[in-house]
Amino acid sequence: MSTFQPVRGMRDLLAADAETLSHVIDKSRETAELFGFAEVITPIVEPFELLNAKSGEEIRQRMFTFEDMGGRKVSLRPEFTASIARLATTSMKNEPKPLRVFSVGSVYRYDEPQKGRYREFWQANFELMGSNQPEADAEVILLANSVLKRAKLKDFRIKLGHVGVLRGILSQEGVEENTQNAVLQKMDKKEYEKAFELVDDSCRRVLSGMLELNGKDSSETVDNMRNYLKTYNKALSAVENLSSIAKLVNEGGCEIENVDPVFARGLEYYTGMIFELYVPQLEIALGGGGRYDKLIEVFGGQSTPAVGMAMGLDRVALALQSQNVVIKNDQRKRVIVIPIKDTQKSQALKIAQRLREADIPTEFEIMGRKMTKALEDANKRQLDYAVIVGERELANGKVTVKNLSKRTQTEIDIEKLAEKLS
Ligand code: HAM
Repeated sequence: MSTFQPVRGMRDLLAADAETLSHVIDKSRETAELFGFAEVITPIVEPFELLNAKSGEEIRQRMFTFEDMGGRKVSLRPEFTASIARLATTSMKNEPKPLRVFSVGSVYRYDEPQKGRYREFWQANFELMGSNQPEADAEVILLANSVLKRAKLKDFRIKLGHVGVLRGILSQEGVEENTQNAVLQKMDKKEYEKAFELVDDSCRRVLSGMLELNGKDSSETVDNMRNYLKTYNKALSAVENLSSIAKLVNEGGCEIENVDPVFARGLEYYTGMIFELYVPQLEIALGGGGRYDKLIEVFGGQSTPAVGMAMGLDRVALALQSQNVVIKNDQRKRVIVIPIKDTQKSQALKIAQRLREADIPTEFEIMGRKMTKALEDANKRQLDYAVIVGERELANGKVTVKNLSKRTQTEIDIEKLAEKLS
């Protein structure tokens, strides 16, 4: 008979991989707390219309969409931003601004599976709503930087850009919004020739000139953009905004090495600064985000400027592995309690329970094995201690404790056991 495998693009994470992912989740949650972001939990299934509204073609075509038994068209969330924008227009609409909201969980996209690209993956998502100031943009970038630092990633880079630059050029050149979206989609994929085919000659010349503006560092690139875009007012003010954000981020102790003049991101809702995080070992982004000042309005809320980012936690986990970062989440000693005979079972159970109450990870011998077999197994699984509960020792209020790595044993008072093992 054939056995079952997970659905294509979805994975089982066994203990070591699950531990790395949990580590990254923990660090994201810790960083959220440090930056004052409150966690909310939203449903995995959302109305199709909500997710479809402003995500962009890229994600729209890749949603897992189905009809529920009540005939509603629903989708598995491909990201968190739409769900949080929904909250901002409903149950959180009267909360004082700025609102800082954190979420973590699995998201779903029908992407073509490959290394670091899955159909079910995890995001830690941060949204900061209510401020149009560059400080808010900088805060989100600094937050992303902190998540990766706290996760112990050794070497990563930030790429920064601004959709207002390309949109500024396109709108001054008279390109309407749908075509602008299509151009940005292509530029996101670095398909510049295909993008330029969508616009007329004069616009094409300006856009292709943008490809030549990279300087030796980010401030030279910004200067080149400033000079090049002198006659494009909107694009120029986007460059100034970008420049002040980059300055604040640098002042916050995080260096921006790469300002990309032709940077675009697949999501349609961005209106301002955009950024992504990379490691040299992987070509794919570990996370990304940006400013989206119009989305909350689109969902029927009051006009609310907002900026946010999502970290792709599976990719952060991959990056940690590729940089050989050792993750040890739980340093506590692990114990197994083994009763020698049936008559000591109830005492042994009580002892196991006491150890757990003292926060010591404790297994109980539940296979009904003889002591030697149980010890063999404990050694194989590299447990630290075996607590052997026998009649003679119990009579004196004691148990025998074997240190499994040192292969030594001593008798310890039951009253002092938790203290000695922790
Ligand atoms: P995004 O760039 O679509 O942005 O996704 C964020 C991160 O999720 C990516 O940088 C990547 O690390 C990870 N990711 C995306 N697709 C996959 C995949 N198929 N497999 C594994 N990881 C993947 C957003 O989702 C926006 N909602 C971010 C945001 C929040 N912008 C403003 N607020």
